[in-house]
Amino acid sequence: MPFRFSLPTRTFLVASAILLGGRVALAQQAETPAQRLGLIPLPREVKTSAGTYSLPQKISIYAVSPDERNVAALLQGLLASLGKTATLTTSSQAAHIRLVTASVAPSPEGYQLAVGAEGIRITAASGAGLFYGAQTLLQLLPPRPAATTSVPYVRIADEPAFRWRGAMLDVSRHFFPVSFLKRYIDFLAAYKLNTFHWHLTDDQGWRIEIKKYPKLTQVSAFRKETLIGAQQQFKKPEEFKYDATPYGGFYTQEQIKDVVAYAKKRYITVVPEIEMPGHSVAILAAYPELACKPGPYETWTMWGVNEDIVCPTEPTFRFFEDVLTEVCALFPSSYIHIGGDEAPKTRWKESPAVQDIMKREGITDVEKVQGWFNRRIEKFLASKGKKLIGWDEILDGGIPASAAVMSWRGEKGGIEAAKAGHDVVMAPTTNLYIDYGQNPQPHSPYEPLMIGGYIPLSKIYNYNPLPKELTPEQQKHILGPQANMWTEYITTPEKVEYMLFPRLLAVSEVGWTPAASKSYAAFVPRMSQHFARLDAKKINYRVPEPLGLDSTGLAASGEKAVFTLRSLVPGAQIRYTLDGKLPDETTELYTKPLPVPRNRQLTVRAVTIAPNGRKSPPAELLVK
Ligand code: ACM
Repeated sequence: MPFRFSLPTRTFLVASAILLGGRVALAQQAETPAQRLGLIPLPREVKTSAGTYSLPQKISIYAVSPDERNVAALLQGLLASLGKTATLTTSSQAAHIRLVTASVAPSPEGYQLAVGAEGIRITAASGAGLFYGAQTLLQLLPPRPAATTSVPYVRIADEPAFRWRGAMLDVSRHFFPVSFLKRYIDFLAAYKLNTFHWHLTDDQGWRIEIKKYPKLTQVSAFRKETLIGAQQQFKKPEEFKYDATPYGGFYTQEQIKDVVAYAKKRYITVVPEIEMPGHSVAILAAYPELACKPGPYETWTMWGVNEDIVCPTEPTFRFFEDVLTEVCALFPSSYIHIGGDEAPKTRWKESPAVQDIMKREGITDVEKVQGWFNRRIEKFLASKGKKLIGWDEILDGGIPASAAVMSWRGEKGGIEAAKAGHDVVMAPTTNLYIDYGQNPQPHSPYEPLMIGGYIPLSKIYNYNPLPKELTPEQQKHILGPQANMWTEYITTPEKVEYMLFPRLLAVSEVGWTPAASKSYAAFVPRMSQHFARLDAKKINYRVPEPLGLDSTGLAASGEKAVFTLRSLVPGAQIRYTLDGKLPDETTELYTKPLPVPRNRQLTVRAVTIAPNGRKSPPAELLVK
């Protein structure tokens, strides 16, 4: 297939992420009750008092309204994994846990949780609030089945900072089964995110059954093979090697409905993304008549930005209107994401059909044709009662104020959009692209293959979705933050989990906790209390490398540098080497500050070995 070689735009953006990557700095913090309880996201208000409530093995939950009963049923399942049997009751008196609907906070998602001698009471105006109260309660319980369960007396009043707390998963570049999508939704729910952005279509595979266009799932859902290795390591396409293995998959409409219903029960809105007009060559593989130039085309086998995109002609509008008609019926979300990013106009410039459109519509700049295209799609979505959201490129061609913008090329698009009156989701590559690396060494051999970059926990945690450039009035247009998981190199559920954890915990507080209440130094020890919870759920989190191999140790006076190391994982060992080998269970155990002679070019390497036996990538430092 003919193409002009272009690197993914996101790869260029990686460089700035590397430069901005900061080292973790920690300060000792006084322990507040909220700190001690290890709750994530940090609630607004936590008051503890002396005493604990003993939760029996057989629990009864008071629930009457449909939302109360839904949350009670979810709690039942979650408590079962802690070895408890829960039954629902409509008698408040006999209950150990009471779910009560009443207005408690300005935000509809707010809740109050009270634990005292009389038991546990969660009060909220909505099912979502009750659910978040239940999630907080679970974090007060031990991570695994225990003989006794003592819940500390506490009064919590809580509500989120932002309405949109999102995470995107790209299922086009790699396909993930429904069972994993549900697990992903459970992850979001546990940390009080409320939006699952489902990136369903792209050049490398179309993943949603559309009844009117069966070739989308017969042809566009599959590619003949996949590029081997990280694309950015090659200078030109002639160097590319492919795996000669067909790849693909799609979700039936029944499966889509199942995922949407599963998410809805957990108060998560699923926002589908149908990419247009760019990232659309998989469509052309099945329906080449939608291109500006005769095909054939094939579903893409490499990554990046493809110049072969749909032509903005009437058959293409008919196609997307038909597709969106089915999509709107499947997804209750008020927003439908139409992509809009990375749509090169190479083919449009060459196309007589596009020139005719420009003449007819009085458009002089081919780039603006995308704006005209988007406005028509926006009108169509409005006719279905839906709102359009798209990547920040949709601003370039002009778009009605009712359209929302997802700012990914930094915050600039989001700021411009909010100033122009659009609602905005902040998902900048600089802070919230969780497919980017977690290792200060780019392309470390101890990390899975990935797109590159460096977005450590601190970089995510310290992100404030409210840009200072906006007035308080304009800031009201910021719906909230979203983390994006692109999957060019993330081939399996295990790798998704590795990229997602523990960073999801930082994302959680970016969305839930007001900036003024956030402190990275206070977050880290709370986060540490969650590794046992992640273990109980068998989550393949990235074990953080030991901290302390840094300039503080080098600053020691005398002939030796002295490093004080510590692990973020409770109960973990730190093992090290000075001979360049990779530390493991057999190398030196770190027990006290480590002196390292200077002037011998020694590389200190240290790993965390978690209680479950899993190792971190090594922290490394050359002592000169
Ligand atoms: C994007 O990362 N191309 C939205």
